[in-house]
Amino acid sequence: MAKGEAGVQEQTQTALAVIDQRTGRAYELPVAEGAIRAMDLRQIKTDDHDFGVLSYDPAFLNTASCRSAITYIDGDQGILRYRGYPIEQLAEDATFLEVAWLLRHGELPDREQYAQWVHDVTYHTYVHENIKNFLTGFRYDAHPMSMLCSTVAALSSFYPNSKNIHDPEERNLSIIRLIAKVPTLAAFIYRHIKGLPFVYPDNDLSYVENFLSMVARMSEPRYESRPVFTRATEVLFILHADHEQNCSTTAVRAVGSSHADPFSAVAAGIAALYGPLHGGANEAVLRMIGQIGHPKNVPAFIEGVKSGSGQRLMGFGHRVYKSYDPRARIVKRLADEVFKEVGMDKDLEIALELERIALSDDYFVSRKLYPNVDFYTGLIYRSMKFPTDFFTVLFAIARTAGWLAQWEEMLLDKEQKIARPRQLYVGYDERPYRSTLHP
Ligand code: ACO
Repeated sequence: MAKGEAGVQEQTQTALAVIDQRTGRAYELPVAEGAIRAMDLRQIKTDDHDFGVLSYDPAFLNTASCRSAITYIDGDQGILRYRGYPIEQLAEDATFLEVAWLLRHGELPDREQYAQWVHDVTYHTYVHENIKNFLTGFRYDAHPMSMLCSTVAALSSFYPNSKNIHDPEERNLSIIRLIAKVPTLAAFIYRHIKGLPFVYPDNDLSYVENFLSMVARMSEPRYESRPVFTRATEVLFILHADHEQNCSTTAVRAVGSSHADPFSAVAAGIAALYGPLHGGANEAVLRMIGQIGHPKNVPAFIEGVKSGSGQRLMGFGHRVYKSYDPRARIVKRLADEVFKEVGMDKDLEIALELERIALSDDYFVSRKLYPNVDFYTGLIYRSMKFPTDFFTVLFAIARTAGWLAQWEEMLLDKEQKIARPRQLYVGYDERPYRSTLHP
């Protein structure tokens, strides 16, 4: 699709000629930005009582639900850009908070804006002490994503004014609070799982360093993370910050479209991200690698996947990328940097062997199944000693920035209304009620 200099789609107005063979009538459906408007189909009717033609698109395979200026993906060419900036350049040089600002505001912050933004986020990192009571109520083996989802939802009860979503100041405050507090909640969850005392935010540290400090600090007065880990976390947060209309973002937009407060909408995004076909995939990759056990077992495992046993090669394939996921390339390089410092292990060898065989196997090549971002992220996070079921929480911290940018864009979009798809009813026709309990 052609794009103008400011990233605005060029209007190539043309039309689709449609002939309804049921009636013989002809219609012209305008095509703009490569799409017809689904509502234009409604004029196509057999008679005045007909509802009009619907488009049927389970899983939204070919439906644009919004116009968005935030993230651009070209799945065939493996391109990902935030507000026009290539992901490779942002991952190389930007900070996560700079990217979070960019996603929301559309432009990079100047020095003053950035300093204020960092100050605001840092200032709001503390959470209400009562949050700790919730967390201690969770069982020791509760999944961290369940805990994160519920505590983020609970935050809305601490900030009742956040429901004033049409007030720009309240919206701004909620966005700052969420970006600031999600890492604190995530770190508290980590400490709860480990049975360790909570570590409060250290406002002299950067966003990423502070998060790692809340996770790992013990008795030392100031925690200093290993530079390679700080860098890896910053880059992974940038890579995960947004990915246009994926499952969790769609959930955030759908819940937000009912004008629920942003804490509730983001909690819905976390719930969607939890699933193994979405953000849970990096966790699933490591479980799969554990199940394979040794590089010599890789060929047999691949054969199992190909035989249609139902087992998928986790970390491979993507709904949108049908060539290499550009994030996977960056993550692979990052994994090399991390493993150069912490050493290679058996699981990395298994991963490399899986990748090598899959990339040369016709089953995967013909289906355009390439490693996605999650194939290597789990290995990096594990080398940092994060528990496997915590990986998706790390993803959620980063994606909070994207969810909120998308949520606000949706609210300010005059065309958006409450999300309410249609259905094709395939159930019974009317039939009389006869109780089967009292024959
Ligand atoms: N391993 C083996 N076969 C696969 C895989 C895989 N990982 N992914 C897709 N296929 C096969 C399917 O069996 C199907 O084959 P068929 O045509 O013979 O029936 C074909 O490829 C197309 O698969 P779909 O399920 O139609 O593809 P879709 O675009 O709906 O799925 C998805 C995308 C869910 C990501 C899928 O590739 C998958 O399950 N991958 C593994 C999970 C994963 O890594 N998810 C992370 C995604 S990235 C993210 O969310 C951050």
